[in-house]
Amino acid sequence: MQKSILITGASSGMGLADTILFAQNNYQVFATYRNSKDEDKLKKIKNVYPVKMDVTNGDDIKQAFQKISNIVGDNGLYAIINNAGIMYTAPFEYADEERARQMIEVNLMAPFKITQTFIPLLKKYNASNTIKARVINIASWAGYIGQPFIPFYNASKAGLIGLSESMYYDLGLLDIHVVLASPGVTRTSMLAKATEDGDDNLKALPKEGQVFYKPFLDHRKAMGESSGNSKLLPTADILAKKLYKIVESKKPKHKYNLAMDAAFMDKIMTKVIPLSWRFAMNKSVYKLNIKNSAKAFSQKASIQSGDKKSFAVSNA
Ligand SMILES: NC(=O)c1ccc[n+]([C@@H]2O[C@H](COP(=O)([O-])OP(=O)(O)OC[C@H]3O[C@@H](n4cnc5c(N)ncnc54)[C@H](OP(=O)(O)O)[C@@H]3O)[C@@H](O)[C@H]2O)c1
Repeated sequence: MQKSILITGASSGMGLADTILFAQNNYQVFATYRNSKDEDKLKKIKNVYPVKMDVTNGDDIKQAFQKISNIVGDNGLYAIINNAGIMYTAPFEYADEERARQMIEVNLMAPFKITQTFIPLLKKYNASNTIKARVINIASWAGYIGQPFIPFYNASKAGLIGLSESMYYDLGLLDIHVVLASPGVTRTSMLAKATEDGDDNLKALPKEGQVFYKPFLDHRKAMGESSGNSKLLPTADILAKKLYKIVESKKPKHKYNLAMDAAFMDKIMTKVIPLSWRFAMNKSVYKLNIKNSAKAFSQKASIQSGDKKSFAVSNA
C-alpha cells in the first residue's frame, strides 16, 4: 500500500526537498503551499498533491483535512512533518508584538492545531498497520539556547521542544510516534529572508534605536551572510535524506539532531559548558561588548539631546 504523508511549508527549502524525496520514493505527498505559483511548481511533481494552507488559518486546516480524508479514505495518513517556519529578527526593546505572536502561531501553535486536526487519519492508518503512524516536529538548536535579537524565534522553538515531549506521552497512548528533529544552520532561503527582514526592521526603528542597535545588527548580519554562504553548510537535500530514514524507521527515537552544530548545542553547550561561559562566548561572538555599547550609548545620548549632526555621521 502506498503510504501518505503531509508536509507543511513545501514551497521552498527543507519542505520542498522533503516533498521531492518522499514523492520519488513512492509516497503520496500532501504538500502545503500558500501562493499559486508554488501550487503550479508542486503539481508538476509525480505523487504530489498540493494543498493550500496558511498554517495559521483554522479554515484552511479544516478544508485540507476534508480534502485529504476524501483522498486517503480508510488507508489514513502515515506521517505529518510540521516543517513550516519563520524567523523574525528584532531587538527585544523594539520587538513588535503582532510579529512576535505571528511567529509563535506559525512555529508553535500550527504544529499543535494541524496534528490535533489530523489525529483521526493517523488513527485510521494505525487500525490496519503494525508499523505505527508518526508526527515529526521540525525544531532548531535555537530552541536549546537563546541568541541575541531573535527572542521570539528562540521562544517558539523552545516551546516546540517542550510541546513535542508532552505530545510524545499523549499521542503515545494512541500508538502515534512523536519525533523532534532539529536541523542545524542549513543552506535554505530562510537565512536570506531573515537577513532582509532584519534590515527592514532596523530601518523601521525610531532613530535612537537605529543608532544604538545598528553596530550589533550589522555584525549579526555579516556573521549570518558569511555562514550562510559557507559551502560547509548542509543543504536541504542532505537533511531530507536524514529525515527520510527517520520517517521510514519502524520505531523512531523521540529526538534527532540532524547536523553537527545541533548536536553540539544540545549535548555540549547546554550540558557541559557552564552557563557563565556560554554567556561570555556568545557576547564575544556577537560583539556585545562594553566598547560597542559605550559608543552606541554616547550616540544615543547625543541624539536625545538634539545633536542631529552626530546622528547623521553615525548613519553614514
Ligand atoms: N534554514 C535553517 O538554517 C534552519 C535551521 C534550523 C531550523 N530550521 C527550521 O526548518 C524549517 C524549514 O525552514 P527552511 O530553512 O526550509 O526555510 P524556508 O525555505 O524559508 O521555508 C519555510 C517554509 O515555511 C512556509 N511558511 C511560512 N509561513 C507560513 C504560513 N503562515 N503558512 C504556511 N506556510 C508557511 C514557507 O512558505 P511561503 O513560501 O509561502 O512563505 C516555506 O514553505 C523551519 O521550521 C525552520 O525554523 C531552519
